[in-house]
Amino acid sequence: MSRRLYLRGTLLATSALLILSGCRQDMHNQPKYVPYRSSEFFQDGLSERQQLVHTVARGELHEDAYLYTGKIGIKEGDRFPFPITQAVMERGRERYDIYCSPCHSRVGDGNGMIVKRGYRQAANFHDQKYASQTVGHYYDVISHGSGAMPDYGAQIDPPDRWAIAAYIRALQYARNGAMSDVPADQRGQLKDQSEMTTKDGVPLLRAIASGGNGGPESVPVGTSPTSPHPPQPGEPQEGTQKK
Ligand code: HEC
Repeated sequence: MSRRLYLRGTLLATSALLILSGCRQDMHNQPKYVPYRSSEFFQDGLSERQQLVHTVARGELHEDAYLYTGKIGIKEGDRFPFPITQAVMERGRERYDIYCSPCHSRVGDGNGMIVKRGYRQAANFHDQKYASQTVGHYYDVISHGSGAMPDYGAQIDPPDRWAIAAYIRALQYARNGAMSDVPADQRGQLKDQSEMTTKDGVPLLRAIASGGNGGPESVPVGTSPTSPHPPQPGEPQEGTQKK
């Protein structure tokens, strides 16, 4: 290799190195502030600005304290911050089935699928201990967790937490409700259990007897004597997965 060529090569390599390292530095020292970084721009030396007095950050106006805490003072309350309508109840059921049933089961007895597979026993909402808790307590447990129960504050917003609390109450009434819980003027409209069906048309008593939660999907295939669809050989059974 000639001496000139060698020199040119080194020069090229050096300048490339300089240019590249220049880029790298730029990416490392960006003109931005991370939390608590100091600043020479503001007089108080802080990069973070204090909230202006008499202003509220967007989405942070929590006028109804009870709605956001479930507490009256330091005590958990036992009322709902808004009326519980059919729509709220349906929302509560949907959210409950998504977020709570994996551990507490669809009927609230604490034997959800994750518990069956070894997770710590979840609370049985029909146990006197839990049934006597306030709805404010349910709200608080969803917001902050309790013992082995994880918190769902990030996943479930405050109105939905109340909707779930209302649905837990509905589950409790469905199992342990008394005639005295029904408003006097509506008692005449009650049907006998034997006349009732689930929303999928399965007679209620049969659905209960087969240990279901009310729908045919919860009746284990082949275990019900009147199962409309006995398992066929080679067909995937409950608990097995399609490969
Ligand atoms: C990953 C499993 C799991 C999920 C999901 C779950 N829980 Fe729990 N929950 C538990 C366990 C376990 C306990 C018992 C806590 C203990 O004993 O430490 C519990 C206890 C509770 C209690 C009683 C807590 C107390 O100390 O009084 C309430 C109320 C409750 N859960 C509500 C809910 C609601 C509402 C949801 C849905 C938003 C939910 N849980 C979702 C596992 C779960």
